[in-house]
Amino acid sequence: MRIILFTGKGGVGKTTLSAATALRSAAWGHRTLAISTDIAHSLADALATPLANEPQPVSTANLWAAELDTGEELERYWGNVKRRIAEVLVEQGVQAPVAGELAILPGLDEILALVRIKRYVEQGIYDVLIIDSAPTGAAMRLLGAPDLQRWYARHLAGLSSGLARLLLPTVQKATKLPLSEALIQGQIQQLFDEVKRLREMLTDGAMTSVRLVLNPDHLSVQETQRAYTYMSLFGLSVDGVFVNRVLPPEVHDPFFAHWKADQASHLDRVAETFAPLPVFQVSLMRREVVGVEALAELAQALYGETDPARPLSQEQPLRFASEDGHYILALRLAGVEAGAIELEKDGDELRVRLGHFRRTLMLPQVLAALEPAWAAIEGQELRVAFREPGA
Ligand SMILES: Nc1ncnc2c1ncn2[C@@H]1O[C@H](COP(=O)(O)OP(=O)(O)OP(=O)(O)O)[C@@H](O)[C@H]1O
Ligand SMILES: [Mg+2]
Repeated sequence: MRIILFTGKGGVGKTTLSAATALRSAAWGHRTLAISTDIAHSLADALATPLANEPQPVSTANLWAAELDTGEELERYWGNVKRRIAEVLVEQGVQAPVAGELAILPGLDEILALVRIKRYVEQGIYDVLIIDSAPTGAAMRLLGAPDLQRWYARHLAGLSSGLARLLLPTVQKATKLPLSEALIQGQIQQLFDEVKRLREMLTDGAMTSVRLVLNPDHLSVQETQRAYTYMSLFGLSVDGVFVNRVLPPEVHDPFFAHWKADQASHLDRVAETFAPLPVFQVSLMRREVVGVEALAELAQALYGETDPARPLSQEQPLRFASEDGHYILALRLAGVEAGAIELEKDGDELRVRLGHFRRTLMLPQVLAALEPAWAAIEGQELRVAFREPGA
């Protein structure tokens, strides 16, 4: 079983590459399910076929697709909790529709989409799941929440204890549900049990790979570095970087001369930043890539004779760990000799210099608030330890 998650900034080509990869995977004979978890679905447009919440076959062998609507999961895992929080907020003067929105944790909808995906894994009907839009930072933080009781205490204690108990009769009247504390705790526990197994699935590099999609422009490269940092922080394996909309060599119009030069320099930066991860380029096509035929053509150019379902890289160059009370950032480097390491931290950027080697790393929030304590080369790895400022 393989799960491949595509992620990237808005509009860079995630849906296009997910659909193309799914087609190629199906052509290899893998029973493949393409799933869009984005609320603004466009997988159906890309595949030029109507899609629904449940998987349905696409007009090509071995391929199914779905555009998830997680309403059912939301009710099952969060319905009572949501009603409880909303009631409390309304009591505090928040308008009801707003309270309803606030009662949904940031990232929860994405987690619920993953819960569904877990179900498809357990069913064992498919060999490969291709997910259009990996969970964002908020969802990853929820996924990373180490244990439910602590998380619940921090986020909902105020609601669940005294205040909510006082409100319980109102809630029961409003919802006609026996909303006991045990029931709510039980529902949260059930969700977090699911999340725990999800985490195991997603952090198993043999099962799950993340593919980063970007365009060769400044903002997109920067955003992708940040996404890469977060994926690495949460222990997901990124197995490839996909630069989409690269102007092809046959474009000679002087109007595009600057565009081409800028794209070339962004491509250099991408190769340098993500090395040793493989970087794949996808040309800007003559028109939008819509329909099975156009997608299959793009996929052929992209993957050639490579099986797109297999991990494209075994390396996990960026790791985060916690050792002896320090947070450690570890970066695998090829061919770097030991020597004096210069570090310069500026907000959430860490610039590293070692001989001719230069690299700017994007730090996750937890490290951006700290300062580098020491750095060393150990084996093939650059290791940087962080400490509290002034410690
Ligand atoms: N290489 C390409 N050449 C030409 N058109 C492309 C290419 N890649 C994507 N497109 C077109 O660009 C548009 C946006 O692509 P797509 O929907 O895949 O992006 P996305 O990252 O999924 O966007 P969103 O963030 O809105 O979900 C689509 O119309 C798609 O056909
Ligand atoms: Mg999309």
